[in-house]
This record gives sequence, C-alpha cells and structure tokens, in this order.
Amino acid sequence: MPDKPREEAQGSARCPGESWDDYVNADSREVPAFLRAESYEYMGSEPLATARYTSADFFRRELEKLWPNVWQFAAREEDMPDVGDVVVYENAGRSYLVVRQDDGGVRAFHNVCLHRGRKLRLESGFAKDFKCPFHGFTWNRDGSLKEIPCRWDFSHLKNETMGLPEARVGRWGGYIFVCENNTGVSLEEYLAPLPEHFRRWKHEECTTVIHVAKVIKANWKAVSEAFMEAWHSVVTHPQILPFTGDANTLYSLWGDHVNIALTPFAVMSPHIERDGHSQQWIVDEFLKYNGRAGGADLKVKVPDGMTARRAMAEVNRVRYAQMTGHNHDQASDCELLDALVYNVFPNFAPWGGFMPNIVYRWRPWSDQGATLMEVRILNRIPPGQKIPRAVPMHMLGENETWSATELGTLGNVFDQDMANLPYVQDGLKASKTGQINLGDYQEIRIRHFHRTLDKYLARG
Ligand code: FES
Ligand SMILES: [Fe+2]
Repeated sequence: MPDKPREEAQGSARCPGESWDDYVNADSREVPAFLRAESYEYMGSEPLATARYTSADFFRRELEKLWPNVWQFAAREEDMPDVGDVVVYENAGRSYLVVRQDDGGVRAFHNVCLHRGRKLRLESGFAKDFKCPFHGFTWNRDGSLKEIPCRWDFSHLKNETMGLPEARVGRWGGYIFVCENNTGVSLEEYLAPLPEHFRRWKHEECTTVIHVAKVIKANWKAVSEAFMEAWHSVVTHPQILPFTGDANTLYSLWGDHVNIALTPFAVMSPHIERDGHSQQWIVDEFLKYNGRAGGADLKVKVPDGMTARRAMAEVNRVRYAQMTGHNHDQASDCELLDALVYNVFPNFAPWGGFMPNIVYRWRPWSDQGATLMEVRILNRIPPGQKIPRAVPMHMLGENETWSATELGTLGNVFDQDMANLPYVQDGLKASKTGQINLGDYQEIRIRHFHRTLDKYLARG
C-alpha cells in the first residue's frame, strides 16, 4: 500500500486560506530562517484524562517527579541587580533564596533554617546575611554558616556541613533559572534552540516595566494551556479578530521542552467575513485593541495599494527604533508585529520579536486547583544605558481586573481568558466522560506538553 498523500494524513489538515508562509513570503525584509521552519509532528488524537487537572494524586506526582527535575524561571536579573539583592522564589512546595553574590554571580539556597526549620526570609529585598528570626542561626550570603547562638550547645554541628543546601542556577537572556536536582541536562541544552532564536531580540538588554499577577482558580496546566493556542480568539477575544490571523498560526515543536506559536497580526482572521473591510479598518482595529501597538493616540494611514500589515510594520520599525535607540531597518515585519510566543516546559513563556515583549509564568498555588499567573512586559533599554531595576510585582486581589492595571487594553484580553478558567476547572471536575479532546494541529502544543510531562512522571 502506498503511503497516504500528505494532505490526507492525520494531523496534516490546515486552516483554508492564507497560511503563515504566505505572510512570511510577503514580508518586506528577510525573515529569519527559524521563523519559517516548520517543526510539527502528529502525536496522535487520543483524549486526555481530566484527572490530570483535578486529581490530588496526580498533583503529588508532579511535586515529586516533575518540579525538582526541571529548570524553572525564578527571577530576572533586573529584579536583583545589586550585591546582596535577594529574590524569594517559591514553587511546588519549595522556597529558594536567589542571591546576588559579591562577585556578581547568582546562587540559590533553600530558604529553610537548619535549626528547627523556620523559613529564613519571607520577602525579596536586600540581605547582609540570613539570620533566622527564631533563635538567630545565621548564614552568609554565600550560604556558609556564619553563627550559631549558644554555640556550646551545638558541638555536634560542624560548620563545614552546615551550609545551606543549594540548587543549581542557570542564566540566559536576563532570566535566572533554578533546578533543584544537581543531575540532569544543563540549562543551555534544556532551552535549545530558544537562545539561538532570541539572539536577535536580546532579552538581556530589556527590563521589566510592568509585572502583574493574580491567583486563578484553575489547575496550573489548564491556565497555561489557555495561552498555548490562538484559535480560542474566535469566541473568547472577538475584538481582536479584525487584525489577528488566529487560525493561520504556525505551531512548531522543538525537542521536549520548547514549542512555539507564530500568530500573524494586522491581517484579518479567517473566521470573519472579509468583504467590505478595508486595510485601513484592520489598522484602526489593531490600534484600538492590540494593546502592544501604541494605543489610541497613534494614527496610522494605510497608503493606497499597501497592506495593513506592511503599513503597520513600517510604523513600528520607525517608532521602536526611536523608543529604544536600536536600528530596526533589517527587522522583518513579523518581528515588528506578530505574536511569536515561545513556551519553555513546564511554566515559562517569553514572547519574541522587537515589540515590547510579554513574558508569562504559571505556578501551582498551593494545590491542583489554583495557579499564580504572572504577566511581565519587558522593554528594550537603549544601547549603553544601565538596565533599570524591575518594577515590583503588582498582585491583584480576587475581585480586581487585569484591565484596571498598568496593562490597560492588553488587560482586557487577560480578563477574557481568566473569565473562562474557573469554569474550565469546574467542568473538568464535573466531567461525565473524564476526558478532554484536542485539535490535531492547533492544540499540538498542549499534547506536546503532556507528552513531556509523562516522560518526567515515568522517571524512576
Ligand atoms: S529555627 Fe532558625 S534559629 Fe531556630
Ligand atoms: Fe486568550
């Protein structure tokens, strides 16, 4: 029997009409090869069990097998730029002190007193040393023991073996990662090929200008998966359809830990009727609702015969160069417009490109039914200027909305996403079938995520 032709093979169907390739081929500049490369693999169409999101036992297995073995984004360099700066990073039952060392390096220690177990610090900030507020056992910033009060009563404790337990630290692109276990792949290997792709976008030259977080009443995987596909826009974010090629998104998988969604902007969604809509309308709606495009004050006139995409990219090319001092003459339209959303397993998602970059992080928040979702916006700092310290995280209360924050219009989109999630969790718990179903292509990142998760859970 001959192989089935590709167009009939399971998982090979694509949204009719324009494709990501068509937009890339129409770009006014050369598009980096990695933004053209398709790296999709059909992984089957089996349903997933809802218990993956709802079961306390599944959550316990994640705590045991997953979290200690993965590289976790713990802090940005600009969160802790000076010697003695500390970030308290907590996740999955662990608490770390991520500490800027005297030599500018970064180390991470378990934030637990080796006397009777009090947490050493509750808040990020500056530390001369780490003195336990209970009886005063004290450690130096390098984790070595400094002092034990009433030393005469602890002759059985040797200074050399009383250092704070340490986690591995890796640094890339202004991001600081920790990994609890000392064995396993290096950060470089773990992130590949992401650092190669981000070489152009230089997140190490950015700083956090907005940082908003909220506890969402849904499993951490359900929350992160709401950001792994673009096509929920058709119902959840109708206001962005005039300028979002949601179903034209290209999805690619790279190794076990990285996957990508490339969604074209300043083009009409294939879900809406095109007749009667001008290119100017696309730009007008983009400026109103995109949230990263520059806001309502910006006026852009699309010249006759030009596409909205070309016109908007050119405006951004000039505008971002003025704002950041970086020359964007060779930046492609897609790097100046589109959602280039990278996911790093299991809970970190930085956007690529030259617009202000969105960065997501999701952490389970005490149990399987809650998540701390964080959204950062990174801005590029002009060449030669010192990277400013990050703004503090703005934690929203239960009844506060994302749109009422610094995120503005972009916050509307998050409010729409978050409005679904508690009901997703409720539905997963109430499910009669105990299963969910995924699209073969547009939800491949979710399947990829679960395949990698299973690899970790299967470890001895
Ligand atoms: S618990 Fe920390 S000094 Fe006693
Ligand atoms: Fe969304």
